[in-house]
Amino acid sequence: MTTSREPVAVIGTGYVGLVTAAGLAELGNEVWCVDIDVDKIARLQRGEIPIYEDGLADLIATNRDRLHFSTDLGPALDKARLLFVAVGTPPTQSGDADLSAVFAVIDAMPISGSHAIVMKSTVPVGTGAAIKRELATKGKSGLAYVSCPEFLREGSAVADFRAPDRVVVGDDGGWAGDSVVALYAPLNAPLVRTDVASAEMIKLASNAFLATKISFINEIANVCEETGADVSEVARGMGLDGRIGASFLRAGVGFGGSCFPKDVAALKQLAGNSGYHFQLLNAVIEVNDLQKRRVIAKLQKHLGTLVGKRITLLGLAFKPDTDDLREATSLVLVARLQAEGAAVCAYDPVAEDRSGQYLSGVTIAASAQEAIAGADAVVLVTEWAEFLALDWEQVAATMAGRVVLDGRNALDPAIIRAAGLAYEGIGRP
Ligand code: UGA
Repeated sequence: MTTSREPVAVIGTGYVGLVTAAGLAELGNEVWCVDIDVDKIARLQRGEIPIYEDGLADLIATNRDRLHFSTDLGPALDKARLLFVAVGTPPTQSGDADLSAVFAVIDAMPISGSHAIVMKSTVPVGTGAAIKRELATKGKSGLAYVSCPEFLREGSAVADFRAPDRVVVGDDGGWAGDSVVALYAPLNAPLVRTDVASAEMIKLASNAFLATKISFINEIANVCEETGADVSEVARGMGLDGRIGASFLRAGVGFGGSCFPKDVAALKQLAGNSGYHFQLLNAVIEVNDLQKRRVIAKLQKHLGTLVGKRITLLGLAFKPDTDDLREATSLVLVARLQAEGAAVCAYDPVAEDRSGQYLSGVTIAASAQEAIAGADAVVLVTEWAEFLALDWEQVAATMAGRVVLDGRNALDPAIIRAAGLAYEGIGRP
């Protein structure tokens, strides 16, 4: 790797910011990372990684010399022309995206004719135009603006950075867009060079489409339950059609995370704000909400009342290989189970450290075995590899009841049943 590559700044050191910074450092760029969180920056300076993401700690350690962490924007502005913005855009009460962190960064920008803002955060369509208007009113229209949406998945973010399906660069055709294209060129990914609004929409529409696929297969699963078909077989048969594709056709207890729920709601609101009623997305959201709640009825079918029953959740994170609990299905399950009077016990290999922040009244076990012992029912919520390798004979021996609810269709029903347990999946006979 040469060090002649363009130095860059990355503002915001969350999942997207850190992975982008580390990935660019691996490509040979000097990267100046900035965050307002003093504690987080201190930890990063000490070499501690504040999030769990496969391969990230190693990537940062290997490229430590090219990664600089500070709470001060000054050095980043001195060293870099391209200022990547990767701050959070959480949903507001109304479902619109909260852009206050984005605009705080914009406010902090200097008057400059040689810097560019490169937007990585997921923002509503029209945000780039609004930012350019804001910059103009502050006499900062010399700053260039590029939309470069991120498609990383938590849990495989490092691999996704290294081998993206596409790189999207939205701008008005100036030097900054050219520089961003050059930055990603070594990855040899298909490039979509487009205007800012289209780039913003590509991101929202991609997440909304994937969420739609999940809600669609979840509804098919629910119909399978009524008709005796097996949704896993149905998805396999559908997915081989190249026009449909096999990915994101795994039925389960609904999608969660910091992206899909937020981005689907944001696109729905965005459409509504411009006078368009995006009916399909309403259904996608509603199906997802109900899918989480169907778990309770399934448990009641086997156990009758849940009052005083001990229900064990295997997995709390919104998906495996992450410690992220934001909008996780586990949060809804815990609330509903507690409301039904159940005693909830849970185990997650990684997310347990964060669970106190999100959950109360849940017994957090130190191992899957400890969580399972004495359970009336076990619910697989997150398909961590260690749960798929459980010895179900042993599980059956320590459980008080017999019910195993596979919320991700990730277990082998034959093995569970052979152990004398009652298997219940999602859309599986
Ligand atoms: C998602 C997108 O996949 C990324 O491309 C995007 O960059 C990211 O959002 C973002 O906007 O930042 P992520 O939220 O990390 O990534 O996770 P996914 O792997 O997409 O899974 C999302 C949820 O869908 C999980 O709860 C997962 O369990 C669920 N899911 C996924 C299903 O229920 N079924 C499936 O077939 C696939």
